[in-house]
Amino acid sequence: MEIAIIGASGYTGGELMRLLLNHPSAEVVAATSRKLDGTPVASVHPHLRGLTDLAFRNIGAGDIDADFVFLAVPHTAAMKVAGTLVERGIRTVDLSADYRLSKEIYEKTYGVTHEAYFEAPYGLTELHRDEVRGASFVANPGCFPTGATLAAAPLAHLAHTIIYDSKTGVTGAGNTPSATTHYPNVGDNFSAYKWTSHRHLAEMKQEAARLGSTARCYFTPHLLPVNRGILTTAHILLNEPMESKEVETLYRKFYEREFFVRYQKPTLAAVRGTNFCDVAVESEGDRVVAVSTIDNLVKGASGQAIQNMNLMCGFAEGAGLCFAGMSP
Ligand SMILES: NC(=O)c1ccc[n+]([C@@H]2O[C@H](COP(=O)([O-])OP(=O)(O)OC[C@H]3O[C@@H](n4cnc5c(N)ncnc54)[C@H](OP(=O)(O)O)[C@@H]3O)[C@@H](O)[C@H]2O)c1
Repeated sequence: MEIAIIGASGYTGGELMRLLLNHPSAEVVAATSRKLDGTPVASVHPHLRGLTDLAFRNIGAGDIDADFVFLAVPHTAAMKVAGTLVERGIRTVDLSADYRLSKEIYEKTYGVTHEAYFEAPYGLTELHRDEVRGASFVANPGCFPTGATLAAAPLAHLAHTIIYDSKTGVTGAGNTPSATTHYPNVGDNFSAYKWTSHRHLAEMKQEAARLGSTARCYFTPHLLPVNRGILTTAHILLNEPMESKEVETLYRKFYEREFFVRYQKPTLAAVRGTNFCDVAVESEGDRVVAVSTIDNLVKGASGQAIQNMNLMCGFAEGAGLCFAGMSP
């Protein structure tokens, strides 16, 4: 299957190219960039040198000649091309936020008018597999909502409050430099940001509701001095106390058939570069602490996007994604 990546010069675009090198049934044939037309992909993604001969092309959705497209562009840029891809019958996974929420919540959360809204399955694969399978357009989840929702999903319906406390690596902000991501401000440092107002809270609330939860949800992100990874501590406050053993058993059972969600003490190192989400839980009466880790660029973006592509196209769900990280 021939793949085009729109926005291939960015972090998630580069990660899609890296991961798809090992896909048994898919090959990247086009990598777009508005600014780098004609430049070899390896000049921006040096880890891919010798593995791809592609050069970036500045082409639009109307000129894409491929069976499948990944949109790895910022929100509002995706909505400008999604309609063209759908009209042309090209199956697509959108990594941006443009199709993750209802139109009303999207416009309120992102403060923009949605110019080309349609409903799309939300590609948190483990929870929405049936909607993703065979779909022609899938909205890939945000990185924080992926790790947070997987941490809370088994118990969300029994909680009155869920507080997500997440720590992320710097690549979550994309490849455009800013004062926040400037090395002296990040290295040897640790800080909270958007303490009460991060946009990803809307997705977390949406997913909690879909899990049958009426819990109030809160979210505070923090910036870690690492490149990749998100560790989320979900404080799940239950309506009724539960035995610790029962809580652990419930988590283990919930994920026992999920290859990409492993029940073990989560660390960033164990999931780095992989599509795994590690989850574990400890509890005390009505207070459950669930911790998850993901690589924001893989399970939090490009890996999960490929997992969704696999389901959309009838490939094995883990095709191209079943490999270990590096340890130590
Ligand atoms: N980084 C993460 O951990 C992560 C996780 C989950 C989801 N996402 C989402 O995935 C998308 C891509 O994220 P990223 O981190 O890869 O961003 P990025 O590193 O900033 O790359 C985005 C790429 O899109 C292209 N682009 C920028 N503005 C554009 C426009 N108006 N029209 C067309 N192309 C445009 C740029 O390429 P040119 O300027 O060369 O054209 C750029 O290389 C975003 O929507 C982001 O929210 C990111």
